[in-house]
Amino acid sequence: MNKKWWQETVIYQIYPRSFYDSNQDGVGDLQGIIRKLPYLEKLGIGAIWLSPVCASPNDDNGYDISDYQAIAPEYGTMADMDALIAEAKQHGIAIIMDLVVNHTSDEHPWFQEAKKSKDNPYRDYYIWRPNHGKLPNGLRSTFSGSAWELDETTNEYYLHLFSKKQPDLNWENPKVREEIYRMMNFWLEKGIGGFRMDVIDLIGKQPDKEITANGPLLHTYLQEMNRETFGKYNVLTVGETWGVTPSGALLYTNPDREELSMVFQFEHAALDEQPDKQKWDLQEWDFLKLKQIFSKWQTKLDERGWNSLFWNNHDLPRVVSRLGNDSEKYREVSAKMLATILHLQKGTPYIYQGEEIGLTNTAINAIEEADDIESHNMYRERLAAGYTEAEILHAINAKGRDNARRPIPWNDSKNGGFTDGSPWLALNPRYDVINVENALQDLNSLFYHYQKLVQLRKENELIVWGSYQELLPEHPAIYAYLRTNKQETWLILANFYEAETTAELAGYTAEKIILSNYPDSKISLHEVTLRPYEAVVYKLK
Ligand code: NOJ
Repeated sequence: MNKKWWQETVIYQIYPRSFYDSNQDGVGDLQGIIRKLPYLEKLGIGAIWLSPVCASPNDDNGYDISDYQAIAPEYGTMADMDALIAEAKQHGIAIIMDLVVNHTSDEHPWFQEAKKSKDNPYRDYYIWRPNHGKLPNGLRSTFSGSAWELDETTNEYYLHLFSKKQPDLNWENPKVREEIYRMMNFWLEKGIGGFRMDVIDLIGKQPDKEITANGPLLHTYLQEMNRETFGKYNVLTVGETWGVTPSGALLYTNPDREELSMVFQFEHAALDEQPDKQKWDLQEWDFLKLKQIFSKWQTKLDERGWNSLFWNNHDLPRVVSRLGNDSEKYREVSAKMLATILHLQKGTPYIYQGEEIGLTNTAINAIEEADDIESHNMYRERLAAGYTEAEILHAINAKGRDNARRPIPWNDSKNGGFTDGSPWLALNPRYDVINVENALQDLNSLFYHYQKLVQLRKENELIVWGSYQELLPEHPAIYAYLRTNKQETWLILANFYEAETTAELAGYTAEKIILSNYPDSKISLHEVTLRPYEAVVYKLK
């Protein structure tokens, strides 16, 4: 495999609404991101994945785009975007755009045209079915209810796998594909560093067969897209693919197939969900399974594909609240442990804004405090189905997307210094303690732990290219693995729990400790005891 820049770097995801507000309107913006580039450079990242910044009525906070070649006014102008791309480059940072092309906004001119009449030239840009007095079939929207919405004017149903303001594009129409490729080239010519592709596994859907993900033409489309657009550039592409298996991931990421650089798989992120139910139906997460999942992906994609590594994004609750311990006492140490075991794996790590300062989930007491359309729709649906309000709020607090979307606290002043205006969504009330300024002042903070992890990756080929081997797979509290190349072997050892735990690794001898989240971890691997959430990286003899 030819080595690529995106295999050796770390990506930082920005949710622009909530990053930094430069003009006091309560919403983050592009100039705000530009001001914080030195902060990101300090962290050491090589690229920003920017959640959508294009014109949008914000039914789904920008994942409903009404103009792919215009910047949403609340974020700035195209000149600001050009400035961001150029200035980020000065800081050694590439900009990865969010490509949302499974659907558009219903306010996109294509849909505005398409719904005018059955013979409108844009009609076939979307997916329509006749009204025979009932829904075309049982396809459901991810945001609750049917995926079919009746359009009164033409008396036909259109498909929307997300909100009814997000009609699905018809990828079988070559004109749609051409328009999208033209738009992608517009962005590539501006010098962006690549695309994160929103629910890209859905574009090959066969709605009449109720097939949504992994439709028969999916990979043909991606190969065509690669040829027509980014294949000519040295860019990163990462597909969002919820139900993907390792063999499916190889189809996307085996370089010989010329599709994508990598995909996001979500198996580990769904561990607290009951299988075959909705994401709101919770269960205890199973530690042994978590290890099995990581090891499966590490080994199956080893030679012919590439992994993405992430705990968080704008759709997932904060990992420190979920798998770590967000109490005052253990928040930082458990977040360091989670960062360590992820960043020492093979693949490209992603840090989601606020993860590097250990932001936690924020519970709400009433549905009015929620912003996210997904939570609101589920609330209505489940209330009607007989769930109690307490049950629903419990699920929203555990899994709701607002957890990840609250503005970044930059300091402990009003609104965490995110805005001088009124923030579009309330901050996490712990911002008096959990904020960037505090993190930067404390040399022992989580921020500097992330910085070390990023730096270690730059300095050690072993982290990027070395092989992976799990140890102690049956241990109920410790996650342990080796990374090895021709020159050296490292052992990564982590206690996932608050209780102390021990392991016997007498067969291994450590030469030195490379990194730990305690100041005084022991070097001997004979009957090693790990304190609460202790994580140590050893270089072995
Ligand atoms: C996945 C995105 O990450 C999510 O935020 C969005 O709601 C859906 N795709 C629909 O675009």
